[in-house]
Amino acid sequence: MSVAVVRGTSQTGRTVLALRRASLPVPDPEELLYPTRTERVEDRRKERQQRKLVDEFFDHATLLAVGRLINQGQFQTIDYPISTGKEGGVFRATAAGGYRAVKIYRIGNTIFRHLPPYIIEWLRREVGAMGNTSRMIFAWTRREHTVLTQLRAADVRVPQPFARFRNVLVMEFIGVEGLPAPPMQEVVLQDPAEVYADLTTQLNRMVVRAHLVHGDLSPYNVLVLEDRPVLIDVAQAISTEHPQAKELLQRDATNFARYFRRLGVETSPKEFFEAAGGSQWPAEVAS
Ligand SMILES: Nc1ncnc2c1ncn2[C@@H]1O[C@H](COP(=O)(O)OP(=O)(O)OP(=O)(O)O)[C@@H](O)[C@H]1O
Ligand SMILES: [Mg+2]
Repeated sequence: MSVAVVRGTSQTGRTVLALRRASLPVPDPEELLYPTRTERVEDRRKERQQRKLVDEFFDHATLLAVGRLINQGQFQTIDYPISTGKEGGVFRATAAGGYRAVKIYRIGNTIFRHLPPYIIEWLRREVGAMGNTSRMIFAWTRREHTVLTQLRAADVRVPQPFARFRNVLVMEFIGVEGLPAPPMQEVVLQDPAEVYADLTTQLNRMVVRAHLVHGDLSPYNVLVLEDRPVLIDVAQAISTEHPQAKELLQRDATNFARYFRRLGVETSPKEFFEAAGGSQWPAEVAS
């Protein structure tokens, strides 16, 4: 038993000292849960980060949009962010029949800073003179959904779009057993020549069948699912009739040719461009 000396005052006013059984220290409940300080600090940091994420993405209007999609039966829960950036985030969601990917564009103007002028022009036309930032973001989300639909129809390997509402797009989850497929940039390709052939086939279909050029192609915007490329992030795609379309495909061909050459595939920008549809450019429609 531990004891402590306590000082008190008697009825006559004299100072008295007494021995008392020391009370046992009451443990801090938080201390019990998170025994070390480092763990506590780390936990608070994570919590803050989580809260920041929720605040930034799920503003009131976005929450309502997500709620509406849940009511439609598109998915039941949003599980975790697969990727977050300044312009938006992609989340894994659970639906009755499996997983879905939910892309949420942040309502703000950051997205427009990185867009090429031809897209800005299109957006302005789309939303009209009265269009505000939110309307432009909604038009952008709609555009991604439309392009995905066109590409699926042309048999290009892209996620199937399921629904969109305001700044939220619901699409097929590209992954295995609940784990998202990695971007090409982050994987070691088993058979680079095979992926090269497959990728150029996808791009060829995009040009020849859908009359579209991706416009922002890079190893970050190609996911690798069971050694096969899946194209994502297609909102910037433009018609092959656009005066800059060929130039864009050429730019992507140059980057990808370099990428594949590093992996030992014998190719050149010209070869990649031609295989990707450059040599079968759709005839211009007379207007
Ligand atoms: N359908 C999907 N299934 C699984 N993961 C996906 C899907 N779509 C996107 N992702 C993941 O989210 C990341 C970002 O997606 P995307 O490129 O479409 O968005 P973004 O806003 O353009 O982001 P970034 O600016 O990073 O390119 C991808 O690299 C990929 O890891
Ligand atoms: Mg991207």
